Formats: sequence, structure tokens, C-alpha cells
Amino acid sequence: MKGSFYGLSTKQITLFLAAVAFTTILLIGWAKAPIVSSLIPSQGGVLRLLPETTTKHKEDSDVKQLSEGEKDLTLVTQDSVAPLSSVTTKSSVIGKEDVKTPSKSQGCNYAKGKWIPDDNRPLYSGFGCKQWLSSMWACRLTQRTDFAYEKLRWQPKNCEMDNLTGSKFLSRMQNKTIAFIGDSLGRQQFQSLMCMVTEGEERPDVLNVGWEYGLVKEKGHVRPDGWAYRFPSTNTTILYYWSASLCDLEPLNITNPVTDYAMHLDRPPSFLRRYISRFDVLVLNTGHHWNRGKLESNRWIMHISGKPNTDANIAAIAGAKNFTIYSIVKWVNSELPKYPGLKAFYRSISPRHFFNGDWNTGGTCDNTTPRSGNLEVLEDESIDPIAAGSVKGTRVKLLDITAISQLRDEGHISRYSIKATPGMQDCLHWCLPGVPDTWNELLFAQI
Ligand SMILES: *[C@@H]1O[C@H](CO)[C@@H](O)[C@H](O)[C@H]1NC(C)=O
Ligand SMILES: *[C@@H]1O[C@H](CO)[C@@H](O)[C@H](O)[C@H]1NC(C)=O
Ligand SMILES: *[C@@H]1O[C@H](CO)[C@@H](O)[C@H](O)[C@H]1NC(C)=O
Ligand SMILES: *[C@@H]1O[C@H](CO)[C@@H](O)[C@H](O)[C@H]1NC(C)=O
Ligand SMILES: *[C@@H]1O[C@H](CO)[C@@H](O)[C@H](O)[C@H]1NC(C)=O
Repeated sequence: MKGSFYGLSTKQITLFLAAVAFTTILLIGWAKAPIVSSLIPSQGGVLRLLPETTTKHKEDSDVKQLSEGEKDLTLVTQDSVAPLSSVTTKSSVIGKEDVKTPSKSQGCNYAKGKWIPDDNRPLYSGFGCKQWLSSMWACRLTQRTDFAYEKLRWQPKNCEMDNLTGSKFLSRMQNKTIAFIGDSLGRQQFQSLMCMVTEGEERPDVLNVGWEYGLVKEKGHVRPDGWAYRFPSTNTTILYYWSASLCDLEPLNITNPVTDYAMHLDRPPSFLRRYISRFDVLVLNTGHHWNRGKLESNRWIMHISGKPNTDANIAAIAGAKNFTIYSIVKWVNSELPKYPGLKAFYRSISPRHFFNGDWNTGGTCDNTTPRSGNLEVLEDESIDPIAAGSVKGTRVKLLDITAISQLRDEGHISRYSIKATPGMQDCLHWCLPGVPDTWNELLFAQI
């Protein structure tokens, strides 16, 4: 069953991509629900002999790991990264009124506009930001020789967007803390912000305050669950916490080193519950870990109301992802009255760009200029309906980066990842400096 399910998604999905509206994809997702639910082990299910260290933090290891189980990811994120041509279909499903974002009511939709060449880019050097930037994402350190992708700036259509400089950011964030919580794409945004704020310069004065948030490397782990840095001059803290699913993960048997984890779809990560009172700006994201392969290899068992899930609609990955995103946004919104100063954002999905195949069938993204000659976003609505729908009617804001990033297929790591397996390309993560810098400019414009 699994084989045909996955078999379907590799070749045929490519056709779907080109030809079929996302509603069709959703129908397929629902049709598969009974199969999917039968794959879920019962509580305390079969033990698998994997070392502890592999249960978390897989995404650094290599492209294969990073893309592991993404065979059905195309299916899962289809709704989120559908081509612009399907916008009409989407708006008829969601309704035009439904996707108005808070930023628009403030007079500007930063997600509408165009990429323009700018010789003052990049804002920091990919050679220089060694203190914060992972070498696997610093494309200047790889064999890549084309860098035009560093020289595009996002220009919103009807408004000016403040240029993000270190001094402006720090003075606006005096005595404040900004937290990114999410998957490796959230970590990219965090590293990008560190580089933008320091302008790529070495900053020995910046303090590592991870211990204040319990972010210390535990025995047997390759790295901590996150990082927190403080700029003493303004008492500004920038932190990142790794939560790929935005769910609370709870070991089902703490004495068992290879335990399954309850993945509480309706419960925010305990880190967020514990520290939300200290945050002034919060940026959440998830998306690319929502596939069967990753859930299985992480031994995550979906739970709702503290019990193993029995709802077939939620057991389907797309349903679970949707349920979780709505749940966490709703929870954050319910906390906001307690923290009037907190500005909370849900960041829409970062698009992937595998052409002529998928991550494991030779898919590539090695264009040196954007594939679509058109570098403009004209639509008012987000092309990530889950993100847009989840914040609707809440005070959580949408940080809408999907359509903007969708135009930038040339900005991925591509085949240049230091650890890339020959023949495999990373068309999910971005080169830094690069596209996530713009996500931070959009964020800065709204805080
Ligand atoms: C931001 O910097 C660009 C040059 O990189 C400049 O053209 C633009 O006017 C600046 N914008 C603002 C709002 O200062
Ligand atoms: C730094 O900011 C925090 C609030 O984020 C405040 O509680 C603390 O007193 C400040 N520390 C200093 C030294 O100003
Ligand atoms: C930052 O915190 C310090 C210590 O609490 C205080 O003296 C200072 O006025 C604060 N600055 C701002 C901009 O809130
Ligand atoms: C928990 O794991 C330990 C070690 O593997 C095992 O001995 C014990 O039986 C498990 N407990 C339950 C309730 O499954
Ligand atoms: C996502 O969940 C929300 C809230 O339960 C629901 O209204 C919406 O229809 C769901 N969307 C999809 C695509 O499943």
C-alpha cells in the first residue's frame, strides 16, 4: 500500500503539479485517509532500534536526510505552493474576504510587489558571517560561481519598506526579545537575522544566553534544541527554538531510550508555553516535516486531547498539519490578551523548487536566473491558504513569504551543498545571504 502511495506521488504528482487544481489533490488526500490511519501504530507501538541522537535534528545531516520521506511532501504542500494560476480555484474555495491579512488593514500588503536589481545587495557577506551562519547554507563557501541571486531586493507595490540595518533593528528592539520557533527554514530566518543585525561582522560582545532558556547541548545530542544571543548594547535577544512540527512532543516511555513520542497536535511545544511571557516578537513556522516518512522515522504518534488520534481526517497528513497550524495559532491568539506587547506572526510556507524530478529522482533547481521571467506578485491573496486561513479572525499576523519566494527558484542551495549526495540537490533550503533576508525585511516592516 505504502509503495503504491509513494509511487503515485513521484511521477504522477509532477503531472498533477502542472495540470490539476489543488482541490483534486485534497480529494486524493482524503481518499487515502483510511490507508494512512492503518499505518499508525497503537500507543507504545513497535520499538525500533535507532540511536537516541537520530530522533531529533536530522535536517543538518545531509540532503538525503533532509528530504527523507518527502515523497509525499509534494502532495502535502501542494495546496500551499500551488502555481499562481490556481489562485482563482483557491479564492473560490476560501472566498476573497477570508484571506485579508492584518498587514493589509494597516494599509500595506508587503507581499505584493516585485524583485528589483539592487547593487547595494547583499546586506552582509556570505564569507563574513561565520559566527552565525552554518557553512552548509553559506553558498559563497561552496563551489557555486553565480551570485546574481544575492542582488535582488523586494520592492512592495504600494509602500516603502524600511531597510533593515543593525542599528535600526537594535534600537527598535531595545530590552526586547524576538523568538523564531519552527523547522530548519525558521532556523535559516534566524541565522539570516543574526547576519543582518551584525552586518556580517564578528561580534565578540554578543552573549550566548541559551542557558536562560534551557538551550544547552544535552549529552548524546549533536546540538542543542536552539540558540539565544543577546546584544548587550541594547539588551536585545534573538533566539531560535527547533520545533519542526509546532507540536508538543512527549516521550511515551521515558525509561526507554528508543521510545515513541506522543505528538500532541493540539498542544503547543512546551518551550513556547514556558517562555511566551518573555517574548516581544514571535515568529512561528512549520510545513516540510509533515510527511509520513518523517513522522515514522521520528516515531511521532499523533495524539489529540492526550489520546492517540482516531479521527481519519486528521490521520491524513494534510489534515493533521492543517489541524495543528490552526490549533497553535488559536492558542497563541488566546494568550495575547495576557501579553499586550507581544507581536505574534505565523510565517507562511517556504516553497520548494524541484524541477524535472523530485528530491530523490534527480530533481534540480540549478538555474542561475529565476525560471519565471516575471518577478512580480500581483495577487492580494496569500497562496498559502492554510497559513492565511489560520490567522483569519485572530490577532496573530501572517508573515506571507510564499508567493515572493516562489519566484526565486534560483536562490536555493541546489547542487552546491557541502554535504550533498551526488545527483541530489537541495531545492528546499536557501542560500544565505539570500531570500530569507527578505522575509526578515518584511517582518521588520511589521514590528
Ligand atoms: C533602502 O535602500 C535602497 C538602496 O539599497 C534605497 O534605494 C532605498 O531608498 C532605501 N529605502 C529607504 C526607505 O530608506
Ligand atoms: C533587559 O530587558 C529585560 C526585558 O526584556 C528587562 O527585564 C531587563 O531588566 C533588561 N536588562 C537590562 C540590564 O537593562
Ligand atoms: C531598558 O531597560 C532598562 C533597565 O530596566 C531601562 O533603564 C531602560 O529605560 C529601558 N529602555 C527602554 C527603551 O525601554
Ligand atoms: C519502558 O521501557 C523500558 C525499557 O525499554 C521497558 O523495560 C518497560 O517495560 C517499558 N514500559 C512500558 C510501560 O512499556
Ligand atoms: C483546516 O482546519 C480548519 C479548522 O478546523 C477548517 O476550518 C479548514 O476547513 C481546514 N482546512 C483544510 C484544507 O483542511
